[in-house]
Amino acid sequence: MRAPGPPAGGRARRERTDLLTFVVGTGLVAVAVLVVVLAAGGGAPQPVPAGLPDSGPVTGWGLPVARVVADLAGIATVGLLLAAAVLVPSPAARLVIAAGRGTQVAVRCAAVWAAAVVVELVLTLSDILGVPPAQALDASALRSFVAQVPQGRALVAQLVLVLVVAGLARVTLTIGNALAGTVLALLAMTPPALTGHSASTGSHDLAVASLLVHVVAVSAWVGGLAGLAWVGFHTGSGRPARRTDVLCHAVPRFSVLAGWCYVAVAVSGVVNAGVRLGGWAPLVTSSYGVLVLAKAAALGVLGGFGWWHRRRTVTGLRDASTGAAGLFVRVAAVELVVMSATVALAVGLSRTPTPVPETLDVSPATDLLGFPMPPAPSLLRLLAGWVPDGFALTFLALAALLYGVGLRSLRRRRERWPTGRVVAWYAGVVVVAWATVGGLGVYSHVLFSAHLAAHLVLGAVAPVGLVLGAPVALAARTLPGPRVPDEPGLRDLLRETRGSRWGRLARQPVVVLLLVATSLFGVYLTALFPALMRNHLGHVAMEAVFLGVGCLLLRLLLEPSAPRSSRRSPAALVVVPVAAAALLLVFCLTVAGRDGVLARGYFEALHRPYARDLVADQHLGALLAGVVGAVAGVLVAGVLVVRRFTRGPW
Ligand code: HEM
Repeated sequence: MRAPGPPAGGRARRERTDLLTFVVGTGLVAVAVLVVVLAAGGGAPQPVPAGLPDSGPVTGWGLPVARVVADLAGIATVGLLLAAAVLVPSPAARLVIAAGRGTQVAVRCAAVWAAAVVVELVLTLSDILGVPPAQALDASALRSFVAQVPQGRALVAQLVLVLVVAGLARVTLTIGNALAGTVLALLAMTPPALTGHSASTGSHDLAVASLLVHVVAVSAWVGGLAGLAWVGFHTGSGRPARRTDVLCHAVPRFSVLAGWCYVAVAVSGVVNAGVRLGGWAPLVTSSYGVLVLAKAAALGVLGGFGWWHRRRTVTGLRDASTGAAGLFVRVAAVELVVMSATVALAVGLSRTPTPVPETLDVSPATDLLGFPMPPAPSLLRLLAGWVPDGFALTFLALAALLYGVGLRSLRRRRERWPTGRVVAWYAGVVVVAWATVGGLGVYSHVLFSAHLAAHLVLGAVAPVGLVLGAPVALAARTLPGPRVPDEPGLRDLLRETRGSRWGRLARQPVVVLLLVATSLFGVYLTALFPALMRNHLGHVAMEAVFLGVGCLLLRLLLEPSAPRSSRRSPAALVVVPVAAAALLLVFCLTVAGRDGVLARGYFEALHRPYARDLVADQHLGALLAGVVGAVAGVLVAGVLVVRRFTRGPW
């Protein structure tokens, strides 16, 4: 069964012409803004002295234009899939017509996106080689570019993802498919953020993480509005009453999402700009800084649009007042022009020289760590040190904020939630913060001993608090339910996920213990560990896996609101922790018994001025892992005893 095709007849032709006129018009505005920004900001192609390699004006101007087209087509693809998956209410079985047609428009947007990425790939090679595009179209040059050069690899990864999104959207019939397509499309927006300006600054971890958050939030916000405007425009040209029916549900939900994205865009944009500007003065003394101010102004204007929508169209739609839907679509169209111009401004910014020189002379240790080598560890530094890890900060902010929003909506409904759970949750978040961006997190990049201790703190201590905080139960009580009959609400999606095969598998003790063993032996005693230590994203991935596996393990023992069907028998409550403890013991003994140093190349390359005996530090790591494991064991036993003999807080 295929997704619904475009409507036929005169009305459809008029609709297509109007839409095309709007898209081309907006595209021209964006390109005009881009040209002005490049010319004014210093990102425009400069005349090259004779004899030096010159890629020529086609590449100089074509490359940023291709990026703008790729960004806008990508954002439209994300938006149309997001509208189908989350914004426009559809029954579980099949997307409503408007949403289904939107996914087919997403296929065409994805095709434009893929074409723009291919152009960007060739022009980037031409830019790097300093030859005109025709010469860059050399098979062996292209092969080594996509295989060895980070920009080449990122663009090929993006291209593959975009083609997968196009294929999936083509056959999307249900909310599930649309959701998968949305996530993949958002993912496909990110590869370029991993290269370019971000990856070449001193604190590249913070720069890369903030730009990823920035691009994802912009895509969901601008894309969501574009998706809704298209649905409103499409249904409106057919049956205006139907349009109001659809938008009166979709727009209030989008308004909540837009609010979150707006804050995320502002914070991540300021953080990213801060890394590149390196201070306040360049904000007004450098062209890069002035462009950043222009973006902040654009964000202000867009905030005004949002405020106006909340006062007029969102309330109007809620009251189903006539004209509100049409007004929403018209104002959204203007807003989308401003947003597209801002995206073009952003691309111009990404090609403008930054005040902080990209090729900073950084020591090998700083290059490996992404921050300067910390001084020798002390109790104070372990307790009070910190490092701005962008990914961890994003996780911590979301964990603290989303739990808070859940509490607020319970309070608004005058429903109780045990204080013990709130305390447990935020205590868990604080422990994660200490092991990632805090003192222990700092030294986990430098010392094997601190790394293993941080692993156990993330894998066995923090999850005690996080699991006792019962976030899933809180979500199940506060996520929105269905808006129309038969629509699977977000609450239902959560229940379905818990009841799904994967949800049940994640509660099987054998499976969880296997994951624990893999995260210990599979990571440290293979070539994976040195590879992951050398790469910032690798280090973040390890932290995420340790925390995730730890939460699955502790959930087996402590989940306060575990469904009766998955309550653990007293035997299991003994076997699981004993098995986990045995695994940890064997692991610690293995590490302590090794003469060889794990990830020797990495730790030697740091040339740290303290704890130079790598073997001794490794043995200390094994000991610390055992100690932290034991502390976690006592904590768990304590909770089980309190729960057994008192009407405890969890
Ligand atoms: C306070 C407001 C904002 C600030 C400080 C800000 C800052 C930044 C910075 C520093 C970059 C990285 C540029 C580079 O690579 O050198 C960036 C990229 C980007 N920004 Fe913003 N931004 C803001 C608002 C916005 C808004 C409102 C939008 C869209 C509606 C937006 C869309 C983008 C996009 C799409 C990129 C990635 C461009 C690319 O390389 O493809 N930003 N922003």
